[in-house]
Amino acid sequence: MKQPEEIRKPGGKLGVLLVGMGAVATTTVAGIMLARRGVALPIGSLTQLGTIRLGKRTEGREPLIRDLVPLADLKDVELGGWDIFPDNAYEAACRAQVLECHHLDEVREELAAVEPMKGVFYQEYLPRLRGVHVKDAKNKLEAVEQVREDIRRFKAERGVERVVVVWCASTETFLSPTDVHRDITSFEAALAKNDPGISPTQIYAWACLKEGVPFANGAPNLGVDFPAASMLARETGTPIAGKDFKTGQTLMKTVVAPGLKARLLGLRGWYSTNILGNRDGEVLDDPEAFKTKETSKLGVLDSILEPAKHPELYGNYVHKVRIDYYPPRGDAKEGWDNIDLEGWLGYPMQMKINFLCRDSILAAPVVLDLALFLDLAKRAGFRGIQEWLGFYFKSPMAAPNLQPDHDLFVQLMKLKNTLRWMVGEELIHHLGNEYYD
Ligand SMILES: NC(=O)c1ccc[n+]([C@@H]2O[C@H](COP(=O)([O-])OP(=O)(O)OC[C@H]3O[C@@H](n4cnc5c(N)ncnc54)[C@H](O)[C@@H]3O)[C@@H](O)[C@H]2O)c1
Repeated sequence: MKQPEEIRKPGGKLGVLLVGMGAVATTTVAGIMLARRGVALPIGSLTQLGTIRLGKRTEGREPLIRDLVPLADLKDVELGGWDIFPDNAYEAACRAQVLECHHLDEVREELAAVEPMKGVFYQEYLPRLRGVHVKDAKNKLEAVEQVREDIRRFKAERGVERVVVVWCASTETFLSPTDVHRDITSFEAALAKNDPGISPTQIYAWACLKEGVPFANGAPNLGVDFPAASMLARETGTPIAGKDFKTGQTLMKTVVAPGLKARLLGLRGWYSTNILGNRDGEVLDDPEAFKTKETSKLGVLDSILEPAKHPELYGNYVHKVRIDYYPPRGDAKEGWDNIDLEGWLGYPMQMKINFLCRDSILAAPVVLDLALFLDLAKRAGFRGIQEWLGFYFKSPMAAPNLQPDHDLFVQLMKLKNTLRWMVGEELIHHLGNEYYD
């Protein structure tokens, strides 16, 4: 990444298009509308509430992040998206049952005006849902063209200068990259041949890359994490980020595990189980979709604990992740973690974490931050994988052969140092010996 000489100021409106108008997307959209009216606080959002230390601790410089870097203002954000059901954002938010009526009614008209464009849908990637509001394309290449046309139409009709897209749609069945994902030519040939290795996530993502529209993947689906997508992103000057929003249990895992590792406490086992009853839970009830999610959730511990470097502490631990669809809880997920650890001379200890969270309440600020930071990245001339946004993901993307960081505080430091570096501020290394000279 080249240090930008100058970051283009955000003139005009920013279109934020969300794929999937479900619980996460409608909670984000309604939240943005409520926040810009000053009715509720965008809690959890670094772009709205976060501050950043600059220079020495004694200088007392700690502006808001949005005062350091030129982010789009919430009042300049135009919202839209796609879904495979025709409900507008008000109807979808009511059905999702995340936000209460007093909040939804406050922005009812504005929400109802957000009507989803028809989605790209193929049943085999989403066995639990039957899409009805779907595009009719003769092959996957044409579906890409239709999504590109949607983006251009949205820009023209809403007078939008720039667009970013965040995938907030369902988890698809498990896919691994194949030969078709090798380079741009092989991928485009496979699109024309309706290759089964290309799922809807990849179709939306490819359309964005072609349009130079930044794309973030909030689900664990194969979306932009393969060589052809990285190549196209670099060629078209498009920032990409993914994948799978880091919100509830995994967020806490990447807080606690670095703490254990820092004090060299050993691990014998980590058992994580969840109940959730929203549509995401219903989709994840399908074993193939669960496999996609499980793969994403399981990766974090090994990467933080590095068993190969510490076989005596982490060489043999058992890591299990379960998700059970339990409708009475709706979006109010409950997660339990049982951690079996060991200390001095191998004596065992246990830790239990019971997180009664709200899935979409944790995800909405992540969607907002990703949209605004990706737009910033584009204006700064960044392209390809944005590793500094790994802070927001369970399976952060990184350059090939590079192990991504999962430790939340390392990720935060990387994010903030990237912001400092972008505007020519000194990086902060926390050495601090200059205070004692
Ligand atoms: N909430 C969290 O904390 C969290 C964390 C990590 C990842 N995620 C992921 O975010 C995604 C959204 O979660 P949610 O709770 O909003 O789910 P949801 O089921 O409420 O919403 C998903 C929406 O996507 C739509 N959809 C499915 N396929 C589509 C397609 N091809 N095109 C357009 N729309 C499509 C569905 O109709 C639905 O309205 C899921 O993949 C979930 O795994 C959520």
